[in-house]
Amino acid sequence: MTGGRLTAERAVVVSAKGAARWQAGHPWIYRTDIYDEPRDAAGIVTVADRRGRRHGQALYSPKSEIRLRLLTRGGEPIDAAWWEGRIRTAAALRSGIDATAYRVVHAEGDGLPSLVVDRYGPYVVAQLLSAGLERVRDDVVAGIRAALEPDGVLLRNDAAIRRHEGLPLEVVLAHGVVPDTVEVAEHGVRYLAAPRTGQKTGAFLDQRENRVLVAGATRPGGGGRALDAFAYHGSFALHLARRVAEVVAVDSSAEALERGRANAALNGVGNITFREANAFDLLRELERREETFDAVVLDPPAFAKTKQSVPKALGGYKEINLRAMRLLAPGGILFTCSCSYHVHREQFAAMLAAAAEDSGRRLQLLTWTGAGRDHPELLNVPETGYLKGALLRAAD
Ligand SMILES: C[S@@+](CC[C@H](N)C(=O)[O-])C[C@H]1O[C@@H](n2cnc3c(N)ncnc32)[C@H](O)[C@@H]1O
Repeated sequence: MTGGRLTAERAVVVSAKGAARWQAGHPWIYRTDIYDEPRDAAGIVTVADRRGRRHGQALYSPKSEIRLRLLTRGGEPIDAAWWEGRIRTAAALRSGIDATAYRVVHAEGDGLPSLVVDRYGPYVVAQLLSAGLERVRDDVVAGIRAALEPDGVLLRNDAAIRRHEGLPLEVVLAHGVVPDTVEVAEHGVRYLAAPRTGQKTGAFLDQRENRVLVAGATRPGGGGRALDAFAYHGSFALHLARRVAEVVAVDSSAEALERGRANAALNGVGNITFREANAFDLLRELERREETFDAVVLDPPAFAKTKQSVPKALGGYKEINLRAMRLLAPGGILFTCSCSYHVHREQFAAMLAAAAEDSGRRLQLLTWTGAGRDHPELLNVPETGYLKGALLRAAD
């Protein structure tokens, strides 16, 4: 594996349009804005325009539509110490988070394109999502180790997006040890994350603040019941179980539910029923049986993986939201979200309005939310903001 030192030798020449994109704060330059490129190997390159003006250094991916991802406008060496400094800066921005698992580097959102670094207590789970970054893997891992001093670094490089880069999907232990499950403390709740086999890097860290928000929105007094649909290992359910008498947690993944049961036991909580089911079917069944809930959470997977699939996805979102609205007890709350980047907030809001009309219920919009503050969204880079959520209350 080669470090950043081969960098400054190799140059890529870009169009004025490509360079302008960087000036506007977006770190990507596409294949169509490249005039001249080495084509030989991925890595770090110097970027110049056709007049020979240097614009900085970038990660270069010769097989990807996204050819360049800006790292720095300067010409400094990009070595392990450079990565360490950047990761330290990102980590410092997370101080005060009341959880032992959170995102330390949110890729483009933290100015480190295609790099995800999640902390799970003493362990780190990272994702290297571009060919350019993969090429400097050793320096990146050395930077992570120096900045965060973890007991182990696991690379969850099995994200499908790596295929666009011509990279293999793999899970690699890059340093030390990382166990199959790691206990996480999150705002007074404990749960087991599964760094090696779980979804994403082992847990849905982006919803941490929303879990606290939703539990806090339930009526105090310990009564009532809640439905956590698309529950994964019960992350929302665990927070809700402390506030209501009974929680039903539904997911289609038996593996996630098994961990959910272990999580309930870990918290000494006996009021969560875990059900393996298709949430679409269960919502229909609950509606038919005229069951009601004081709190409903809808946190489905991304229904729209592409721009073309947005209309169909909106149909799916409307179906589950309409049913969830009908399940609400008077004064009940609904937390509903979409993690589809391609479904924009305006479309999501319009879908919710249409569902509210069809449901025959009056829904107050209490607040809009996004991902937690450890997943910073960059206004110049819309791709960094994918999660949108609405907290609603039945006002009839
Ligand atoms: C975004 S995740 C939920 C994350 C969870 N709320 C949390 O905070 O940890 C979506 C979940 O939906 C589940 N899922 C996908 N399709 C489903 C379906 N049709 N019915 C039930 N669960 C489904 C997946 O297994 C996954 O656990």
